[in-house]
Amino acid sequence: MKTIDCGDLRSDHEGQEVTLAGWVDRRRDHGNLIFIDLRDRSGIVQAVFNPDLHPEPHDLAGQVRSEWVIQVSGRVTRRSDETINPNLPTGEVEVAVESMAVLNESKTPPFYVNEESDVDELLRLKYRYLDLRRPKMRDMLVMRHRAVKFIRDFLSERGFLDVETPILIKSTPEGARDYLVPSRLYPGKFYALPQSPQQLKQLLMAAGVEKYFQIAKCFRDEDPRGDRQPEFTQLDLEMSFVDEDDILDLIEELYTAMFETLVPDRRVLQKPFPRIPYAEAMARYASDRPDIRYGLEMSDLGETVKDSDFRVFQSVLAGGGIVKGFAAPGLADMPRRQLDDLVEFAKRSGAQGLVYIVLSADAPSIDDLTEEHIKSPVAKFLSVDVVKEMARKTGANPGDLLLIIAGPAKSTNVALDALRREMARRLELADPNVLAFAFIVDFPLFDWNEDEGRWDSPHHPFTAPKGGHEVIDSDPGAALSKSYDLVCNGMEAGGGSIRIHQRAMQSRIFEILGYSEEETEARFKQLLDAFEYGTPPHGGIATGIERLIMLLLNVDSIREVVAFPKTQSFIDPLFEAPDMVDDDQLAELHIRTTE
Ligand code: AMO
Repeated sequence: MKTIDCGDLRSDHEGQEVTLAGWVDRRRDHGNLIFIDLRDRSGIVQAVFNPDLHPEPHDLAGQVRSEWVIQVSGRVTRRSDETINPNLPTGEVEVAVESMAVLNESKTPPFYVNEESDVDELLRLKYRYLDLRRPKMRDMLVMRHRAVKFIRDFLSERGFLDVETPILIKSTPEGARDYLVPSRLYPGKFYALPQSPQQLKQLLMAAGVEKYFQIAKCFRDEDPRGDRQPEFTQLDLEMSFVDEDDILDLIEELYTAMFETLVPDRRVLQKPFPRIPYAEAMARYASDRPDIRYGLEMSDLGETVKDSDFRVFQSVLAGGGIVKGFAAPGLADMPRRQLDDLVEFAKRSGAQGLVYIVLSADAPSIDDLTEEHIKSPVAKFLSVDVVKEMARKTGANPGDLLLIIAGPAKSTNVALDALRREMARRLELADPNVLAFAFIVDFPLFDWNEDEGRWDSPHHPFTAPKGGHEVIDSDPGAALSKSYDLVCNGMEAGGGSIRIHQRAMQSRIFEILGYSEEETEARFKQLLDAFEYGTPPHGGIATGIERLIMLLLNVDSIREVVAFPKTQSFIDPLFEAPDMVDDDQLAELHIRTTE
């Protein structure tokens, strides 16, 4: 129905007869002449209807409205110099229409497709097919396509096989709740949708595939957040005969090449990506997904304040907690009200409180600090020497604001991480054009679950320990694992590990995690059995495709990079899913619902 796409027309097409088809982006009547901006996926071109030359299409053009679908034929003409539109790639030409057909009409759309206006998100999702017509969303789809194609080409060239794995499987532990699918043929039994193809890719290594990848759908019934969806896509990969560096080097090469090709204007901050041990990341940034585009590094102040008169610090330290803080440069003149807001912010982030200390810019240097230079609600409990030492440790200068949180290590780090991000936002420290990749390595093998009084796997139970049995038997809490995360600009972009490939070690890990033998047998038999038939050493990683696109396009909401996303509350407003099903369907599945 068309001989060329709208967005492809240029001045070298001048004089050619073309046929175009697309949507009416905008119609303007100028006295006699009618102009229609005609849009298809490739872009927009101006069509001109002249009643003196072709009265019939001109009459028809007078009736069309936004989003009608039309087909026009005519000659490409160069616009006069004063009517050239430099904002449009096709702006030097227009099409003088000789004939036109209406292919479909459109009701008045619930929002303007042709404007970057702020439309309610629920409305956008309900009419996603209209929302996706908008250039920004089209560009997102194009970027997603290009990124996935880049990955496929890159890995194919390196000998990886793209293997599909089933969606109807059995519950796999990845830390979230499963989505279950009832079986019609086996009453009372259920399939589970994969939280990731973890065990399947390990079985492919047992099968001798050696280099596997897949653009894999994963399903996790977990609380949605700005960077989470209940169903999402991973680049999932696994390799045999490798150690940590092989996987990290490959991902570094892939991500560097991909970003430099797809977004050449953005800058990858550091190559090779820094590899930061987990303990160091927690100490310096209070986070295992630090944004390293900026400093605002933490210091442990426990030693400094241990003899101070401030009761809160004393009791926290006595209870095994931490006192930790950082300097926010140049914020000594922050108004009282904003300081109070910061205290509230820290509390909302899980801290019991926030100590701030204002270091007056009037002090010539930190060594010259006197009482007058120090303002803080707790100043009377802290000697000038203690404040000086805090300033030295955090690298603060006169004119800076010291922010300190005391409490149990876990919640204190969470609050400090949130506060560090918030201060970076206020100080505009995170350059949006910079991509600060890093690998976090040397994660602990186990994590103590306070509520349930048992060990958890921070990554998953298939992760290999650093060292052998002796390490995990003597002190599980001190054992490190061969797992790693890819982080970028403060976001977890991927995670993986070298796996256990021997039955004895895997059984021992399940035992420490508190799985009974029956449980292990019921859930992991397939994998443990495979380990007894020559499974090679192997390891891999999975990176989030949505998070990749968020980084490529620099957007904050995961829903902006998915064609048909779910809302924050798990709803699909377009299909209105989840929904009731017929009683017959339920009966067939042997299911009766209760209120
Ligand atoms: P993990 O659970 O760390 O590892 O997931 C890997 C990456 O997937 C992305 N991701 C998500 N993206 C959007 N919405 C979600 N709900 C969501 N959950 C995870 C993140 C994350 O870093 N099988 C292991 C990988 C392995 O060991 O090889 C796994 O799935 O970017």
